[in-house]
Amino acid sequence: MLPERVFMKIGSSNMLIKGENLVVLKRLALMRRGGAIMNADGAPGVRLIYIDPPFSTGRVFRGAAGISAYDDTRSGGEFIEFMRERLLLLKELLSANGSIYVHLDWKMAHYIKIVMDEVFGRENFLNEIIWSYGGRGAKAMSRQFSRNHDVILLYRMEAHLFNRQFVKKRIPVKEARSMGLKRDPSGAWFKTAPRGDYTDKSIERLDAEGRVYRTRNGRIRIKYFFEEQGGCLLDERLVGDVWDDIPDAMHLAASEKTGYPTQKPEALLERIIGASSNEGDVVLDAFCGSGTTLVVADRLKRRWIGIDKGRLAVETARKRLERNREPCP
Ligand SMILES: C[S@@+](CC[C@H](N)C(=O)[O-])C[C@H]1O[C@@H](n2cnc3c(N)ncnc32)[C@H](O)[C@@H]1O
Repeated sequence: MLPERVFMKIGSSNMLIKGENLVVLKRLALMRRGGAIMNADGAPGVRLIYIDPPFSTGRVFRGAAGISAYDDTRSGGEFIEFMRERLLLLKELLSANGSIYVHLDWKMAHYIKIVMDEVFGRENFLNEIIWSYGGRGAKAMSRQFSRNHDVILLYRMEAHLFNRQFVKKRIPVKEARSMGLKRDPSGAWFKTAPRGDYTDKSIERLDAEGRVYRTRNGRIRIKYFFEEQGGCLLDERLVGDVWDDIPDAMHLAASEKTGYPTQKPEALLERIIGASSNEGDVVLDAFCGSGTTLVVADRLKRRWIGIDKGRLAVETARKRLERNREPCP
């Protein structure tokens, strides 16, 4: 059903498609209706959509050696309409338990939020994720705060899958005491947190497991023990909606850099794909650029569909996907 534009096909549903995404999405929507796109649990459609469209920067982007990558010259109402048309089709493609992440920045995120409220329903808006990528010191903008974050809007369909994500921080044991961490008689280090909505029955169970801490004035807190490794405590923290632990693409390892402008870090996609899909699910990126989403999806054993209209983009993505599948020497 898809035209000769399929650039690369690996297995049954992995597709890298070169083309105008409006046209390709219409065809994919027909395939979905015909039951040809299916997730691991049998739910028809795509489990996760991530898109990183042009941001309306007014710029023309070029790759290494000056090769033209793409134009980002749509602005105002034209940009909003461009996004609305595609968001409507993307919604048709999502499975009933799917999620969509739309990556933008300060210029257009607020306008597209309103369009997404209309298309997906305000009640299905889950998060405005702030990706604080660092870099660009205060010098870059002398009479205002420097701009150093992107916005990622997350919406769900009626029900949605969500795997909580954690970051591990290493705390040297010698700093534990000064950070207010405590040690139990066995020598294990722990931190405490309020009991939250634990019922009395749950507290009884936690108490039996040695996980309840009573403050001097009798208040109950829950103990969270640390794993100790090489003189450090491993602190697992739940990821919230401000992501400041993933540096921008300028700081990528040389092995990850493709030279494609506006490439996003694989760590960003690892978090998104890990949170909103399971192995065997279908992940779609309709503005796939250098193929970051596809490479990460492939590595995490998801199936994937990538679309981009640029030759440099699909060539870069194809090479990257092939390299990703090569056996280690
Ligand atoms: C911001 S870049 C994506 C970068 C990508 N996330 C990465 O990590 O490399 C946006 C991409 O959207 C593509 N694009 C823009 N308009 C498109 C359209 N109408 N159809 C298909 N692709 C389009 C551009 O060619 C460009 O590669």
